Amino acid sequence: MIQVQGVYKSFGDLEVLKGIDLEVKKGEVVSVIGGSGSGKSTLLYCINATENIQKGRILVDGVDAHDKATDVNKLRRNLGMVFQQWNSFPHLTVLENAALAPRIVLGKSKKEAQDIAKHHLNHVGLGDKFDEYPTRMSGGQQQRLAIARTLAMKPGYMLLDEVTSALDPELVGEVLDTLRLLRDEGMTMICVTHEMAFAKEVSERVAFIEKGIIEEIGEAKQVIENPANEKTQRFLSKVL
Ligand SMILES: Nc1ncnc2c1ncn2[C@@H]1O[C@H](COP(=O)(O)OP(=O)(O)O)[C@@H](O)[C@H]1O
Ligand SMILES: [Mg+2]
Repeated sequence: MIQVQGVYKSFGDLEVLKGIDLEVKKGEVVSVIGGSGSGKSTLLYCINATENIQKGRILVDGVDAHDKATDVNKLRRNLGMVFQQWNSFPHLTVLENAALAPRIVLGKSKKEAQDIAKHHLNHVGLGDKFDEYPTRMSGGQQQRLAIARTLAMKPGYMLLDEVTSALDPELVGEVLDTLRLLRDEGMTMICVTHEMAFAKEVSERVAFIEKGIIEEIGEAKQVIENPANEKTQRFLSKVL
C-alpha cells in the first residue's frame, strides 16, 4: 500500500503540493488528473523520493520513503516509474534494453536476464522485436518497451506519468491496452493521465488535483461523469 499523508512540497518559494493525502491499496488503480502545473508529476517524484518533501509522510508498504535510513534504490525498484518520453538505449536492441536492469540491478546471469526480458516483451506484444533497435520502432512500441523494461524489475507498484501524451493518437490505444492488461493482472498503479475515458474505465478511483490540492477524489465513473466539485467540473468541461 502507498500512503501519502499531509504532504507539502515547495521549490524555493513556490509551494507545489499543499497537504496531499492519498492512499492506494494493493491491486488498486488510481488515476490522477488535473491541469498542467498542478503538481501531478511532483507528487510521483515525491513518492519515489526523487524529490524531497517539507512536511508530511509517504509510506510504501509501511516504509517511510523519506526516512534517511530507507534504501532509496530498493524503494525505487519497487515503484516502477514510466515517463511520457522514455529514452531507451539506442545502441542496444530491444532485448538488450529489456535485459539490462535484471542483469545489472538484480544481478541475474545473462541467460536469466534475457529470459525475464523475453517474458515481459512477449507480454507487451513485442515478442517479434527482440533484435530490433528502439529508434526503428513506433512511439507506441517504444512506450511498450519502456513498460516491459520497468516490469523486468518486478516492481510492486507502477507510477505512470502521462505515458501516452507524446504519442500520435493512433498509437495511444496499444499502450492503454497494455496498461489494461496489467490492471487485470492486479498491478497496483498510479496513473497521471489526460485520457479521461481511460481514467474512467481502468481506474477504481480518480483524483483531481489543482494547485497542489486534491480537490476531489472518488469512484472513477462518478468523478469523470458527475463531479461534485466545481473545480473538477470546470476542468472536465475544458478537456472533454
Ligand atoms: N525542479 C523544479 N524546480 C522548480 N519548480 C518546479 C520543478 N519541478 C516542477 N516545478 C514547478 O512545480 C509546479 C508543478 O509542476 P508539475 O508537478 O510538473 O506539474 P504537472 O505534472 O501537474 O504538470 C509547476 O509550477 C512547475 O513549474
Ligand atoms: Mg507532469
